[in-house]
Amino acid sequence: MSTVTRDWLDRLPKVELHLHLEGSLEPELMFEMAQRNKIELPFDSIEQVREAYEFSNLQDFLDIYYQGAKVLLLEQDFYDLAWAYLKKCARQNVVHVEPFFDPQTHTDRGVAIETVINGISRALADGEKQLGISSQLILCFLRHLSEAAAFDTLRQAEPYLDRIIGVGLDSSEKGQPPEKFSRVFASARDLGLLTVAHAGEEGPAEYVWTAIKDLKVSRVDHGVRSVEDPELMTYLVESRMPLTVCPLSNTKLRVFDDMSRHNILEMLEQGVCVTVNSDDPAYFGGYMTENFDALAQALDMSHDQARQLVLNSVEASFADDARKQEIQALVAEFDDS
Ligand code: ADE
Ligand code: ZN
Repeated sequence: MSTVTRDWLDRLPKVELHLHLEGSLEPELMFEMAQRNKIELPFDSIEQVREAYEFSNLQDFLDIYYQGAKVLLLEQDFYDLAWAYLKKCARQNVVHVEPFFDPQTHTDRGVAIETVINGISRALADGEKQLGISSQLILCFLRHLSEAAAFDTLRQAEPYLDRIIGVGLDSSEKGQPPEKFSRVFASARDLGLLTVAHAGEEGPAEYVWTAIKDLKVSRVDHGVRSVEDPELMTYLVESRMPLTVCPLSNTKLRVFDDMSRHNILEMLEQGVCVTVNSDDPAYFGGYMTENFDALAQALDMSHDQARQLVLNSVEASFADDARKQEIQALVAEFDDS
């Protein structure tokens, strides 16, 4: 059996369902924006930024991630951020994306939500027209902030809901259970939005249950700690509840000591609808191809497993049925040679 090469993975049509746009801000663009917006960074050089990207846990990373996002001020900044990500997707044959954005990270600095959404959605529209990448946008609430702040954010987003498919929940997980946001998520569903939530990344399997039962999510982001609860695993297999797993993120943030210990392929073989994603690629050392490649290198992922992981992403996506069929056909037709 031949091994999965990086070139084959690059060409394999792919779908990304767990990507924080703010986490795709490369140090080069961060410096460029800092200069043009006259914002001081606590780093002297791009090399120094990269050297700072050593994390012991999620909070360690979030502190640097929120710091980096401060360079984003104008609509053009949000456009440039999303456009750089989409160009990367085009180079790696990622054909459909469902990015997250964190409005509170910007509105709390006085940036209007309209500025954020206009910049991002204009880039996504250009991505569809110029690069053929279809997309759906997801607004995330920061779970370390209050329920009232999340309600306020939902209210601010209401005029723009035609450009948003759903809401999510991210930021520090420990001590911030999903059910803190049950009422906000109920309001979002009443407005016609779908729901997803980060759960079971650093937090316990119990949070995966409450994301499913209380927030009524269509997908769980991360969810790797689900393996600690056999009843939950049975539920995930039977319901085909998707998990958007992020291998490089999990090793960078020490959820797993080493990629060889990652549980994604075990879960795949057990019938869980696991998918591969990059989370915050500028901070964790890689985009979609690099995440798949890490699994090939450390876990001997086969071609069939890689294809199944993509088909799981298509199944789990919020694309319409016609687009899902198009992508399934691209994967089926993909030339192996
Ligand atoms: N925000 C950006 N990346 C995140 C992650 N991996 N977990 C929680 N919140 C995040
Ligand atoms: Zn994430």
